[in-house]
Amino acid sequence: MADNVHADPEQAREEENQKLEKQLAKIRNTILVMSGKGGVGKSTVAANLALSLAREGFRVGVLDGDIHGPDIPKILGVEDVSLTGDGEGGIKPVTAFNTIKVVSVGYLLESRDTPVIWRGPMKHSVMRQFLKDVNWGELDYLVVDLPPGTGDEPLSIAQLIRGPAAAVAPWAIIVTTPQDVALLDARKSVEFARALELRILGVIENMSGFSCPHCGESIDLFKAGGGLKAAEDLRVNFLGAVPIDPRIVRDTDEGRPFVMTDDSSQANMAFARIVEDILRQTAQQ
Ligand SMILES: Nc1ncnc2c1ncn2[C@@H]1O[C@H](COP(=O)(O)OP(=O)(O)OP(=O)(O)O)[C@@H](O)[C@H]1O
Ligand SMILES: [Mg+2]
Repeated sequence: MADNVHADPEQAREEENQKLEKQLAKIRNTILVMSGKGGVGKSTVAANLALSLAREGFRVGVLDGDIHGPDIPKILGVEDVSLTGDGEGGIKPVTAFNTIKVVSVGYLLESRDTPVIWRGPMKHSVMRQFLKDVNWGELDYLVVDLPPGTGDEPLSIAQLIRGPAAAVAPWAIIVTTPQDVALLDARKSVEFARALELRILGVIENMSGFSCPHCGESIDLFKAGGGLKAAEDLRVNFLGAVPIDPRIVRDTDEGRPFVMTDDSSQANMAFARIVEDILRQTAQQ
């Protein structure tokens, strides 16, 4: 994955920048999936959104931007594979479900237990290479799964895509759970997205209530409705609320995004409405 060795470093940098620009020009929409707090369901949303978009016939890629906890290979059921060369000096992404192009730091590690110990500049360089050197081809959507917070990875990705080459700013989805502490962090994510001039698609309130499989009664384990309130307060779109569904945990562990099971569960119906909203907003540009 080494950048080209060149006699003139200035010229080499210029060539690399041009390469990045050329790559980004082939990606129509980038969607960053972010949250203030960990474990709220970003990777689940990213994987299910990617599959939903692919099923609509769009050309979709997933960039796992979570360097320290790369979960995308597992959720998309493409764990025990490696990245290979594309025969033209670039990197060939892994393919999930015969359609989705996937790249993750997970594919560069020796084992699943290997920790990544990198400082910010190293992370930036990896993100840059994932955008510049991976042969994504023409994409309608590149979904980027990010780690929680407003650290190096979201900043790098947003800046790289937002750079001078970018014709359009990336989109952002902010995932939250209904608790106060998560909502407080979601507010930070919204401000971060605003500061970086991302186009905010909206807030998703995940783990919003639990429908009892026995009596059908809805139990608000972590309260409910806070995501909607935060979205209203912050004047951003509310994409929808996805309830806690034990099937999501099971499917995720088995490498199956839950939208693969076509049913009329509350979670599936809610997610379908979220995807519709995203399609409507991204079609308008
Ligand atoms: N609506 C839901 N109902 C039940 N379980 C869920 C739901 N959404 C996500 N989960 C489960 O919660 C766990 C955390 O989800 P996920 O990994 O997507 O969160 P994350 O925000 O990406 O976490 P991290 O911050 O660590 O990257 C997973 O086990 C996932 O299966
Ligand atoms: Mg994650």
